[in-house]
Amino acid sequence: MVKPSVIRDIHLADEGMQRIRWVEKFMPALNTLSKTCFNPDTFKGKTIVMSIHLEAKTAYLALTLKKAGANVIATGSNPLSTQDPIAAALVSQGITVYATHGCTDKEYMDYLNMALDHKPHLIIDDGGDLVHLLHTTRKDALENLIGGSEETTTGVYRLRQLANENKLLFPMLAVNNSQCKFLFDNRYGTGQSVWDGIIRSTNLTVTGKTVVVAGYGWCGKGVAMRAKGLGAHVIVTEVDPIKAIEAVFDGFDVKPMVEAAPYGDYFVTVTGDIHVINKDAFLAMKDGAICANAGHFDVEVNKEDLKEISVSHFEARKNIEGYVLPDGRTIYLMAEGRLVNLAAGDGHPAEIMDLSFAMQALAADYICRHEKELKPGLYVLPHELDVKVAQIKLSSMGYSIDSLTEEQKAYLGLK
Ligand code: NAI
Repeated sequence: MVKPSVIRDIHLADEGMQRIRWVEKFMPALNTLSKTCFNPDTFKGKTIVMSIHLEAKTAYLALTLKKAGANVIATGSNPLSTQDPIAAALVSQGITVYATHGCTDKEYMDYLNMALDHKPHLIIDDGGDLVHLLHTTRKDALENLIGGSEETTTGVYRLRQLANENKLLFPMLAVNNSQCKFLFDNRYGTGQSVWDGIIRSTNLTVTGKTVVVAGYGWCGKGVAMRAKGLGAHVIVTEVDPIKAIEAVFDGFDVKPMVEAAPYGDYFVTVTGDIHVINKDAFLAMKDGAICANAGHFDVEVNKEDLKEISVSHFEARKNIEGYVLPDGRTIYLMAEGRLVNLAAGDGHPAEIMDLSFAMQALAADYICRHEKELKPGLYVLPHELDVKVAQIKLSSMGYSIDSLTEEQKAYLGLK
């Protein structure tokens, strides 16, 4: 038996619809696909379960899939990233939603399970929690499943582990690994929205400060680049020597976390790893240091260590907790160590998510069209789809580029 929507308050729907209408204007690639590639029958008869940060852009993806005929069920992918007005707006548009902002971990899992009760044909996962349930306690919900797609790096790590052990039970498309996703969303999206979340919550300067960025992958590069642009001195911490050289050549200082700790005014973890900032680093930090995480799970800043070494903690501002050390120093932790850009901000800019969600919509379409051929496993969308989305986006931005002539194709061996 499927349950009706569980949301905070349906009266917030108008506020949510206003936020969705705002982003709609700035998502031309998704709009073009909706008008030219999809019709009301594209996903007819298909139930799509999405576990995704429920904010305006994801809501617009959900509405686009619904317009193309899907029965869409939405749930969050993090207890703090769900925006209650957005959940209400989706329900007002006929989408079933199980999500409330600030829910407990148990409620969060209950919501995912309620969504899976709908026995989806397709899933859109963000971080791998739906896939995990479908491989453990919810194998009953595999009944209709054709396949799905994964939005983020951490979810792809988890899928790769399953695929390497030949345990992946259905086809999954790593949308994160499409160029139109990670080159823009992870780098420029995270780069901007992390600083938006930190600045709007702290109302403090970045210029003149020292920022320690843990992880110099696609997200870390964006966070470091934007910190530099805002006038900060940036120190990068890494475990991969190649990424560390890249950071040095990009003009950043590189140090181990414990050595960087005494200098940092802000610390941003974005590694996808566990326990990146621990007791030894907290104890070396300055009074007033601010720690934030942008990696998918709230495991990068070691909260247990921070609690253990503190004599007390208090709410310093919305989304900022102060932890007082025995010598009186205070270390601040933003958004309980959850993704700061989504828990303390509105997530990535709409123009960036336009690219990611155009790829997500194409992934859903691809799975439906290749239902018979796709075997269980982890796939990347064909390069032509990246090119197609890039072309639409480029022209929507008013740019055009040259094309290879026949002579050039022959010269480059592309014929
Ligand atoms: P990536 O794989 O490109 O980069 C991660 C980097 O962290 C690698 O260079 C790795 O060597 C480094 N690293 C790993 N362990 C480390 C440690 N202990 N100390 C220092 N560096 C370490 O991954 P990407 O795409 O940058 O994603 C990172 C995380 O951010 C993932 O959890 C991903 O799911 C998440 N993400 C968050 C977004 C957001 O909106 N906040 C958007 C996109 C991804």
